[in-house]
Amino acid sequence: MRLALLRVPAVRSALELELGRAIEYHASLASTQDRARELGGSGSGPLVVVADEQTAGRGTHGRSWLAPAGQGLLASWLFRPAPAEPALFVLLAGVAMARALDGLGVTGARLKWPNDVEVGRNKVAGALAHATTDGEGGSLVLGIGVNVHQRREDFAPDLRERATSLALTGHTVDRLALLVRLTRELERVAEPSERGLALDEWRRRATLLGQRVEVLRDGRTAARGIARDIADDGALIVGDERIAAGEVRLQ
Ligand code: BTN
Repeated sequence: MRLALLRVPAVRSALELELGRAIEYHASLASTQDRARELGGSGSGPLVVVADEQTAGRGTHGRSWLAPAGQGLLASWLFRPAPAEPALFVLLAGVAMARALDGLGVTGARLKWPNDVEVGRNKVAGALAHATTDGEGGSLVLGIGVNVHQRREDFAPDLRERATSLALTGHTVDRLALLVRLTRELERVAEPSERGLALDEWRRRATLLGQRVEVLRDGRTAARGIARDIADDGALIVGDERIAAGEVRLQ
């Protein structure tokens, strides 16, 4: 509940120094992702945009990301240069999220390809990545939404069976502490030398590997088979096929 402390200049600059990136805090904003992309487009360096509420939060596949004011961690980090291609970095970000949660006592988070973090078999967080190229290494904006304090009735009825919050799994987590840990873990997985270890951890935490799955693209079945592994670029290997994008469900 202390996220609004970021409004205090002394707190913000102490954290900026500690994390090595600028922090922009908004009580309410359309989307931290749009704002970070805008800042990236005008040449800003490493920063994180944080909001207590988003009025037009974006999810994957053109969906919305909804969270009542003050209930979730809603943040977008600008990396310059881009640490990896977006499809790979969302996987690495999943590992960063799981490690950050471990550090706050929420152990055993699992990862569903490509961008979901699950606790107790339900989705508690998701990530979204956008890249730009500029001939100088480009930049990447990574947005993360974590359901922190939501109660069951805070989720839309069609999500209640699949979504959860840290509170619903029995954990009281401070959003500012989560932001700090997550930033540190994201910086760690952004290091090229850390990638191999992080991808192995992704495999250990994966919900789908070794399972029979169906891949959907534009609502249609694009592939079926055993999810065997992930490739170095983040693609999911289903049978003999490389799946670069799509939604996957257990069969
Ligand atoms: C998903 O669909 O699982 C990805 C959700 C990503 C949501 C976050 S919330 C902070 C950032 N700003 C946005 O508009 N979207 C991302």
